[in-house]
Amino acid sequence: MRALRTTSADITPAQAARCAAETHGLDGEPSNLDGERDQNFSLLTSSGARHVLKFVDPADSGAAAVQAAVLRHIASRDPGLPVPRILPARSGADHVRVSIAGVSRELLVIGHLAGRRWPATGAPTPSFADLGALLARLDRALEGFFDPALARELAWDVRRLPSLAAFAGEIEDSRARDAVSDAAAAFERRLNVLNGLRSQAIHGDCHAGNLLVDDTGTAVSGILDFGDMIHAPLVLEPAVSMAEGLSEGIARIGDLAALIGGFARELKLQSAEVDCLFDVIRARLAITILVQAWRRRHDPAGAGALARAAPRAEEALHRLCDAGEAALTASWHEAAGTLPARAALRKRRARFLGAGAELFYREPLQLVRGADVWMFDADGRRYLDVYNNVPHVGHAHPAVVEAIRRQAATLATNTRYLHEAILDYAEQLTSRLPAGLDACLFVNSGSEANDIAWRIAQTATGRRGALIMEHAYHGITDAVTALTPAAGGAGDPRVETLRAPDEAPDLERALAALTGRGLAPAAFFLDSALTSNGILDPRPAWAAQLGAGVRASGALVVADEVQYGLGRSGSHFWGFARRGLEPDIVTLGKPVGNGFPLGVVITRRALLEEFQARCAVFSTFGGNAVAAAAGLAVLEVLERERLMENAQTTGAYFLAKLRELVSRHRAFSAARGAGLLLGLEVVDDLGRPSKPRAQRIVDALAARHGVLTGLDGPGGNVLKLRPPMTFKREHADLAAEAIDAVASAADAAAEPA
Ligand SMILES: Cc1ncc(COP(=O)(O)O)c(C=O)c1O
Repeated sequence: MRALRTTSADITPAQAARCAAETHGLDGEPSNLDGERDQNFSLLTSSGARHVLKFVDPADSGAAAVQAAVLRHIASRDPGLPVPRILPARSGADHVRVSIAGVSRELLVIGHLAGRRWPATGAPTPSFADLGALLARLDRALEGFFDPALARELAWDVRRLPSLAAFAGEIEDSRARDAVSDAAAAFERRLNVLNGLRSQAIHGDCHAGNLLVDDTGTAVSGILDFGDMIHAPLVLEPAVSMAEGLSEGIARIGDLAALIGGFARELKLQSAEVDCLFDVIRARLAITILVQAWRRRHDPAGAGALARAAPRAEEALHRLCDAGEAALTASWHEAAGTLPARAALRKRRARFLGAGAELFYREPLQLVRGADVWMFDADGRRYLDVYNNVPHVGHAHPAVVEAIRRQAATLATNTRYLHEAILDYAEQLTSRLPAGLDACLFVNSGSEANDIAWRIAQTATGRRGALIMEHAYHGITDAVTALTPAAGGAGDPRVETLRAPDEAPDLERALAALTGRGLAPAAFFLDSALTSNGILDPRPAWAAQLGAGVRASGALVVADEVQYGLGRSGSHFWGFARRGLEPDIVTLGKPVGNGFPLGVVITRRALLEEFQARCAVFSTFGGNAVAAAAGLAVLEVLERERLMENAQTTGAYFLAKLRELVSRHRAFSAARGAGLLLGLEVVDDLGRPSKPRAQRIVDALAARHGVLTGLDGPGGNVLKLRPPMTFKREHADLAAEAIDAVASAADAAAEPA
């Protein structure tokens, strides 16, 4: 392959002088110039003119003709571009054939361009935006130039990476070797797309060593060396220049956007071209490392030429990967003005919702439609929803949609007027609860429900202390945040946390700690699903014992059913019943409105009335007629479609499948849960909880298999599988197959952390 091996400089200045005199009538003493394959001399004639004699690599037959034709083409298309001009031979030809020591060579004489080398770091340099713009101008001038010789195979052409990758074994440093192999694999996956992009003649090697700058150092005054020109995808031009800037140590990763922006200013880039940049830049850096590794063994003199570039290329490759493809590509799209619709949406979102607004998945989804257990993105791709419990009876269930539509079309008002729907709903709810839990207060979210429950408990007991589980999540209001160590609420002096189930009960310690601070507990809050504890499913004895102890302490028991209510466990309609807990207050949220905002507090009538007597509680939207219609419809569908039963049978089937996966994959250590709330614990190769691996699995499930899951648990390493209650065996099969495939890849990518 051409250019892998350098060509030795075998022409002497005297031989060069003789040729120049014979063919071009030039006198003067030539001096050697750099050149990896062509051998170049600078010649100052007695008349004061300076020329460059280019003896083209004999292996590159016909190259002189191509270079001459290119330079003429550029000069005619954009005469202002600082490229060398050709000095014709005495015969009038642009290039001539000479014989030196019996070897036939092609000679091309070009005008010397004024300027000096790219300035050292610290000194003023041309801006990367201007450099990008100049490259684009050059490519505009090159457009339409065609010569079959440009289809040649050059080692430096990134498209040769897949064959060069065979030399990866010659790279000594294992991290660099892995990075190069990753780059080669990613590039190979990209190659089809790359080959489909617009192509033309490009310079292909516009790095600082091939550029001259003016006296100020800030403007490019010369573009040299058209010996590596190829016919290739246009995007290779800026990509190669960017990669070379990194390995020459003149550019930082942050400069790449400026170069792309400058390029796009002169020649509009296509979105698909920008998408390829990351892989192409990585590929060029990988090639520098590979060529150096190969030459170290087979061409030591040539390796010397890369002695500084190769380590820098290695470092740049690692830095590029650390910065991440998604973030860099987004910044390049922004610079090029090619932000794809989804990226533009993300940018707009960050602007209006704040950069900290959480998004799921490495490649966030733009979901536009849901139906049953499926969601669809803006491109029409279908995703199996194994995560969302809010659409309890399935996305956009027709019965719920119709109930909401009908009521919204009739009347949407609040609970300060007499209205039957909210009473029907309260009746339906309380009829499903243990006797005594007979009065409801309606709000709009789980957080509000817990906030009110907390106030009721404090009013009823006259106490201010609270007991919660460690890592608990109960919501986002100021009061409830104090009960939510899982989201920044740790450390409130009124709150004591209890250890997760199946460890020795530590209620006594918690009560003593509260007493020590002059407090007594008003309430014990329990998410009956124990979701943020890692989706634990302890024996009923655990909660029953705890509940009895809490009650004995005089505190109220609040069952937070936001996750587990309405039959999700499959075995019980209420999570607290599965736990063996007897609550004083029950709070509901998420699933009850199937997506329509609705939260409920249910307690004993005496407790509610005592609270109402002390505080005027009214929520404008809480319990509005439309919410009531939604809530009623959900209960009806649950029963009609026997969804609790489905949760039990499908859940058991799914759990068995997950347990089978645990037995086969070292990425998993346990599967647990009940009904349609299951957890799959992800570990590293040493069996330790691994959030990064879990995150990669979740991302891959979404991106590659269209299977939506999430993460939870104290270590953030438990796959949360919590689909709509209409999830069936065939869906469990699809999800398990996808998890199996992703886990096989995770197992193969061994990682100790
Ligand atoms: C157990 C539990 N309680 C309360 C909440 C808060 O509900 P909302 O987000 O509707 O305020 C959540 C939400 O995730 C929850 O999981």
